[in-house]
Amino acid sequence: MSIKEILNNGDFTKEALVQLLAAEDQDMTAIFERSAAIKLKYLGNKVYFRGLIELCNICEKDCFYCGIRKSNPHFERYNLNDDEVMQAAQFAFDENYGSIVLQSGELQSEGFTARIERLLKKIKEMSGGKLGITLSLGEQSEETYRRWFEAGAHRYLLRIESSNKELYYKLHPKDSKHDYQARLDCLHSLRKVGFQVGTGVMIGLPFQTLEHLAEDLLFMKTFDIDMCGMGPYVEHQHTPLYEFHEGLPTQRQRFTLALKMIALLRLMMPKVNIAAATALQAIDPIGREKALRIGANIIMPNVTPGLYRDDYNLYENKPCTDEEASDCKNCLEARISISGNEIAYGEWGDSLQFKARGGQ
Ligand code: 5AD
Ligand code: FES
Repeated sequence: MSIKEILNNGDFTKEALVQLLAAEDQDMTAIFERSAAIKLKYLGNKVYFRGLIELCNICEKDCFYCGIRKSNPHFERYNLNDDEVMQAAQFAFDENYGSIVLQSGELQSEGFTARIERLLKKIKEMSGGKLGITLSLGEQSEETYRRWFEAGAHRYLLRIESSNKELYYKLHPKDSKHDYQARLDCLHSLRKVGFQVGTGVMIGLPFQTLEHLAEDLLFMKTFDIDMCGMGPYVEHQHTPLYEFHEGLPTQRQRFTLALKMIALLRLMMPKVNIAAATALQAIDPIGREKALRIGANIIMPNVTPGLYRDDYNLYENKPCTDEEASDCKNCLEARISISGNEIAYGEWGDSLQFKARGGQ
């Protein structure tokens, strides 16, 4: 079947998805035109902001791809104090960002759970309930998820990283801290507790094939996710996976593949929220805006105090690490309008997919 035929009949089988992911030139342009049109039809040209607060880069896990993994000694660890977190949240609120994301290295302890609970309540109080809060704090017990939900968070991001179990274990140590099934269970707990659930994968990883990526898209469809954040894999020299970077597609190829993944997810799930991942910008200075043009509708401007940004390097070349948040906001405004989109200031921009399922 030709690309046009697949796009017209909308039957996204694994085989069809592999063919679409391999598309180049006019075929690729046809996919992007279609996904841009679908986004406009279902979601308009609004882009929602989530001010990203990277609250702590201490991590108990050792994922083979990640720069802040426990075994990397080559950088400073930090943990923002509560005042610094509140200042960042206040900044996002004052700038009318609508929502924030609290992200951290993975920590599992009663102290951490209680701290987040306290911060959530304070942020809700500070903003009179107006600031929406997304969490990206890794795998936790259902009870912890419930406490955080009850304290005011309503969206949670937990990337599956790869939905293929074999590939998952090539990217993570095979031990109880990095268990594939545990991660899946967490996604189900999050849904059960009532969160809008987001997941996603890295694109262009060592050992990853187009079949894996097609399976990832089908996984997201079957799980019926509400939100997605996915971006290109960007190698980090102080991680074990770096050893395999020479056989990889170029960064530019990984970038293009990531755009195709975003476009295809938009075609398969028109109502989900899709973030234009920061990793896109590590490869292309206007990478996120390109993603917004072809299907993404969420952007996560970094509002972490500038002092710490250099030390939250999940991957190398992370953009804007040396700038204050306000600088980022100015350059974002200009670039988003060039991408044909409009910033929906002060709105939560909840997932329409979630609402369609009856969630509130
Ligand atoms: N390249 C791209 N993305 C990465 N992440 C972690 N390390 C890398 C990397 N080297 C992503 C993971 C994680 C998210 C917070 O950052 O997908 O879930
Ligand atoms: Fe921290 Fe993977 S290295 S969660």
